[in-house]
Amino acid sequence: MDKIEITGAARLSGELAPPPDKSISHRAVMLSSLAKGRGVVRNFLRAQDTESTMAAFRTLGIEIEDNGDVLLIHGKGLHGLREANDVIDCGNSGTTMRLLTGILSANPFFSVLTGDSSLRSRPMKRVITPLSMMGALISGRDGNRLAPLAISGRKLNPISYDMPIASAQVKSSVLLASLYTEGITMVKEPVRSRDHTERMLPAFGADLRTDGLTVSVQGGRELYSQEIDVPGDFSSAAFFMVAAIIIPGSEVLLKNVGINPTRTGLISVLQSMGADIRIMNTRSVSGEPVADIVCRGTSGLKAATVAGDMVPSLIDEFPILCIAAARAEGTTMIRGAEELRVKESDRIKAMAKEMIRMGAAVEEHPDGIDITGTDTLSGADVYSHGDHRIAMGHGRGRAFGSRNNDDPRRWRCRHIIPRFLFTHPRIDGMNAVIAIDGPSGAGKSTIARLLARELGYQYLDTGALYRAVALGLLQHGLNEESTDAEIIAALDRTTVSFREGKVFLDRKDVSEDIRSPEASHYASVFSARRAVREFLLDTQREALHHANLVAEGRDMTTVVFPYASWKFYLDASAQERARRRALELRAKGYDIDEEKIRLDILERDARDSGRDIAPLKRADDAMFIDSTGLSVEDVFRHILDVIREGRQ
Ligand code: S3P
Repeated sequence: MDKIEITGAARLSGELAPPPDKSISHRAVMLSSLAKGRGVVRNFLRAQDTESTMAAFRTLGIEIEDNGDVLLIHGKGLHGLREANDVIDCGNSGTTMRLLTGILSANPFFSVLTGDSSLRSRPMKRVITPLSMMGALISGRDGNRLAPLAISGRKLNPISYDMPIASAQVKSSVLLASLYTEGITMVKEPVRSRDHTERMLPAFGADLRTDGLTVSVQGGRELYSQEIDVPGDFSSAAFFMVAAIIIPGSEVLLKNVGINPTRTGLISVLQSMGADIRIMNTRSVSGEPVADIVCRGTSGLKAATVAGDMVPSLIDEFPILCIAAARAEGTTMIRGAEELRVKESDRIKAMAKEMIRMGAAVEEHPDGIDITGTDTLSGADVYSHGDHRIAMGHGRGRAFGSRNNDDPRRWRCRHIIPRFLFTHPRIDGMNAVIAIDGPSGAGKSTIARLLARELGYQYLDTGALYRAVALGLLQHGLNEESTDAEIIAALDRTTVSFREGKVFLDRKDVSEDIRSPEASHYASVFSARRAVREFLLDTQREALHHANLVAEGRDMTTVVFPYASWKFYLDASAQERARRRALELRAKGYDIDEEKIRLDILERDARDSGRDIAPLKRADDAMFIDSTGLSVEDVFRHILDVIREGRQ
């Protein structure tokens, strides 16, 4: 997904639940791994960053069962991790790397942590310094400033540490290391940063106290597994919040959003600008405050000044705040935000540069930015700088704040919050997806095509996409013997897209070519390769930007569109499916043994649900429909009723 075209929206109305909180998801996996017993994490964020954390703990010997949205983590206690037999790849995730550095410094074995080029250029000295004061042995590139980091774990001592910068990652790293010490560790922040670690640790049994800006932990206490429900991510909700408030006439209800006060500085700033934001149904979920938030679009937003203590509570919301500022009257000044220069990108520079392309009046400062509001932002090619929050900020600015709908944008931040763009189920003005999974012969494609026709949606022909990829790989000379590396290299040189029912391979319409028996055979060969499935994830999701979709397959509800507006799982008895298939084949003139088909179907079911890559699984939140004894028309009408009544 290098490039996404985004066009303006007239008005937003509807409701949505943002994806699960990233910071809390990381911590839930970490603490559950270090606790004794089986931990349960519900509503875990499935994204590259959190998956890096999961993969790291698996490498360190922790068994994590993954049933869709629920993780079961078989924690082994504080001293249960074992040495990884390879370098641990933290991907793009600063939280994974910095918090793990704290944990691994105290574990008596050797570890090496690395990450992608962005993470390898982010400052690590900030965790190495306090951990070294505790006795940790950590070395890294560039005079112990940058990853990869090599850690020789050993016994650590408690410290009293005055943090020079407000950083939840640094604070958490020290707090996690302190669990392994004998004595009391104290960490004092200049300004309070997000406190998810402090909220979660006592629930697991740690002896932790907070006094003003100081957090202290008495080390040496075992942790015990808990059940955690991860609330919706405020930082993700923020994009829709701003989208709604900058378009007059909009009204959006954001449900189940974490409103931890260390995270919600954006609400105060937007309210001070005159935004209509109301917080309702405040409640507590797993020790975190959660609420539903109503945002209404207003004209006449006024500029704001943001500085000092306010900054850490909206550190991740900076890009989207810039967009709000660009639509407000007057000059918004943001200062004291130099930390933004060392995030996944230099966010000050990135926003300044890209907003200028969109016609905003911007002045960059070493520790912030001035933005003077304007009535219109214009269409332009904007770049994400490899940073998911920048991409989302522009997306909202462009889609909802600007008028023209011409040029495509370039985004290069795939998979960081991969599903985020696909999580706006019931927002009018945004596209919806109906996802249907089920075993072969359950009638998915017939129903999907009927639904698409009835509702005026596009039928996303994933089979055709797999065939197009197969064709592309064949053209690169690949076959069933090809290695993963060869497939990945060929895919890097391949583009596949889907528009208005047509499939394009390297920009050529191959809708006819893919019907060949060879393409069909190799589609099934290559679709069992992980690299191919990952490659097509983006293509399938991108189709949603161009049309409302009906998508059917084996992992539409679980992997491709887990936040689909409607999810169905269609099934029927093996006998019924065999009967349907036999009818179909007999109609084509074949002589058919129905019992043989039934046995084939049973064998295929077992293979499909047992396989490693994209196993057939029923998503917890998919509506189950057993179509045994029902006609196609019955099932179609039933699904249509569900959709039209807005159930599910
Ligand atoms: C995070 C802390 C913040 C934030 C990041 C997540 C965390 O970083 O920007 O997205 O989960 O602890 P810093 O600690 O570097 O401020």
